[in-house]
Amino acid sequence: MAQKVILVADDDASIRSLLKQLLADEGFAVVEASTGVEVVEKVKESSPDLVIMDVRMPELDGIEALSRVKATNPKTAVLIMTAFGSSNAAIRAMELGAFDYITKPFELDKISHTVKRVFDYQDLTAEVEVLRDEISTLVQTERIVGNSPAMQEVYKTIGKVAKADATVLITGESGTGKELVAEALHFNSNRRSGPLVKVSCAALPETLLEAELFGHEKGSFTGAMTQRRGRFEMADKGTIFLDEIGEMTVATQTKLLRVLQERKLERIGSNLPIKVDIRIVCATNKDLQKSVEQQKFRDDLYYRLNVINIHMPPLRDRKEDIPSLVEHFLAKHRYSATAQPAAISEEAIRRLIEYNWPGNVRELENVVERAVVLSRGQIITSRELPFGEHEAGEGEEGDGGDEVKGDSSFFKKSVAQFEKDLIMKALRDANGNRSKAAEMLGIYRRLLYAKIKEYGLEGYPPKGR
Ligand SMILES: Nc1ncnc2c1ncn2[C@@H]1O[C@H](COP(=O)(O)OP(=O)(O)OP(=O)(O)O)[C@@H](O)[C@H]1O
Ligand SMILES: [Mg+2]
Repeated sequence: MAQKVILVADDDASIRSLLKQLLADEGFAVVEASTGVEVVEKVKESSPDLVIMDVRMPELDGIEALSRVKATNPKTAVLIMTAFGSSNAAIRAMELGAFDYITKPFELDKISHTVKRVFDYQDLTAEVEVLRDEISTLVQTERIVGNSPAMQEVYKTIGKVAKADATVLITGESGTGKELVAEALHFNSNRRSGPLVKVSCAALPETLLEAELFGHEKGSFTGAMTQRRGRFEMADKGTIFLDEIGEMTVATQTKLLRVLQERKLERIGSNLPIKVDIRIVCATNKDLQKSVEQQKFRDDLYYRLNVINIHMPPLRDRKEDIPSLVEHFLAKHRYSATAQPAAISEEAIRRLIEYNWPGNVRELENVVERAVVLSRGQIITSRELPFGEHEAGEGEEGDGGDEVKGDSSFFKKSVAQFEKDLIMKALRDANGNRSKAAEMLGIYRRLLYAKIKEYGLEGYPPKGR
């Protein structure tokens, strides 16, 4: 690790040399300054990792120097030395972002200990930043939301197979997140720095799809004006995602089978074999096994594609994921780029949970997005939802919990968690002003008071930091 640089600043030369000796003995490089102006200059010059300075210095005092240092080098840690009992200066220093303060006279042990604490802290935050970078390249895609047992299984399988090159078949109804899973597989694989190429097999007629996948030589068929690389070639060292594989014709299936077996292909109109290093992920909302029985899908291809199957559960079977999905989409589709994520009423969330979601997560996302627009950034109520007026239990106000029938423990828990989060958010946004929070939530103040008590939020949000 690079040697850490510490700037020691005090107008008292004996203190400077005392500190310099101590810190040099511990292996640090030490720079000195005797005035506030000098501190500011030397920080710019040698960007030290740490500044230890006295509050009282000529020209520019330590507090002023601190605020200038923080303005130019926000990552430089600053320790302030104050005379015993001058708590005002200490408080001011902390407010301006000093790491800590040390009262004079000090013990040398105390200095060493504090310096160590500063560097431990810096190393830790640096690590967190590296991690954050890695994660953001890893998951460049939208986050997959949902913690239901069924989704946990999906995550586990992704984790187990992402790094392998095995072919994966993702099945599930429309709008369940199959494409998100394909992205997660790619970005968590060793191929993540390579391309992820997506092809929808339903979008193109047979000839064009083949030309798209395999590429072609000039003049190989009507319309092939130039030579072109196919998607398989483009996906070299990466992943190819064949979406809606169930729509592929048998002729194209046969060609795909050969790519799978030999990892080689020829462009249309050429017989020069081209090697490709690709990982194949496909998806379908069809029952491929049935297609195989009806001889619409080659069984040998089916077995090769279905080495690993990830099945996406429909949303109606994992309703406990609805509150977190709603929250996710509220943040994603906030009313304007600068607006807060919208809030949603208790009745509206209840309706969303009761609905059956034939269009799965995509439908939920569309409903939430539409409601955000209709509510113009205010609270979303059931009026902004596209469900008929009296379809889903419009019970008496206030004590909605009682009207829920059947096995509703997850339901109640989900609603409660969501309600609590909403209340906390409103209280934060209203700076603890309960009348304002109630207004933001669109509920009576009395109800808010009751809920605050129910969830133990009396002291929320905590004052100060
Ligand atoms: N678990 C999830 N968390 C967050 N967003 C999701 C989730 N599942 C789906 N979505 C969102 O819902 C929409 C539909 O998802 P996706 O396109 O992956 O579905 P699909 O299964 O490929 O559907 P189709 O079969 O119709 O192509 C996308 O906008 C996606 O971001
Ligand atoms: Mg899709």
